Amino acid sequence: MKNRQITFQILRYNPQDVASKPRLQSYTLEKDSGMTLFIALNEIREQQDPTLQFDFVCRAGICGSCAMMVNGRPRLACRTLISDLPKTIVLTPLPFFELIGDLSVNTGKWMRGMSRHLEAWLHSREESPDLGRIEEKMEPEVAEAVYEMDRCIECGCCIAACGTAQMRQDFVGAVGLGKIARFRLDPRDIRADDDFYELIGDDNGVFGCMSLLACHDVCPKYLPLKTQIAFLRRKMAKIAIRQE
Ligand code: SF4
Ligand code: F3S
Ligand code: FES
Repeated sequence: MKNRQITFQILRYNPQDVASKPRLQSYTLEKDSGMTLFIALNEIREQQDPTLQFDFVCRAGICGSCAMMVNGRPRLACRTLISDLPKTIVLTPLPFFELIGDLSVNTGKWMRGMSRHLEAWLHSREESPDLGRIEEKMEPEVAEAVYEMDRCIECGCCIAACGTAQMRQDFVGAVGLGKIARFRLDPRDIRADDDFYELIGDDNGVFGCMSLLACHDVCPKYLPLKTQIAFLRRKMAKIAIRQE
């Protein structure tokens, strides 16, 4: 059932084109019940403007590629219902990340760099992975905690919402701190707290975080970022004091 007309104000800009200037372009659509932002954007692209750039892969909140600023708040387009938004919807790309064009940003490039910097992979005793050990049983509550943090889809919403990240390009953000928390929790990882301190014990890591907690509020996967960051900070602060 069509029930109300929605106005979209969408940021258009192609950084590859020197003649392109950032501007807001208006589109109107009739809202269908159950329509998501992802469906609306596809309708606009199919029926009104094939040049509009935005990303999606899974349409199910799993791949993290459709994150964008929706009336100033980072959200996943595929998980946002138009009925939950006002009649005028302003869409802009996530800040902080390299702009590809319009609503499309290169989160993957930044996430890869951050993951390499933080060595965000399992450091096991063996040179080559021992599959038997990878499958090793762990206490259910530990497995649950690791699994909780593993649900991160690297959408970039936490970075887009974080005031520290806007000021400090090398800040690893809640996504990076969450990865360290995840490997610290994992009993198969041989790294000690001092090793993690080497990776995040500075202003681009846990001491740069000002506890603004927007990351926790906007994470579409509801990761326990607040608890994990606070816990990491306490642990890392103890090491900092010990090293003074
Ligand atoms: Fe997205 Fe949450 Fe992962 Fe941040 S921590 S990248 S908001 S899923
Ligand atoms: Fe940013 Fe979250 Fe810390 S919003 S300042 S990473 S608590
Ligand atoms: Fe994959 Fe939205 S399209 S999370």
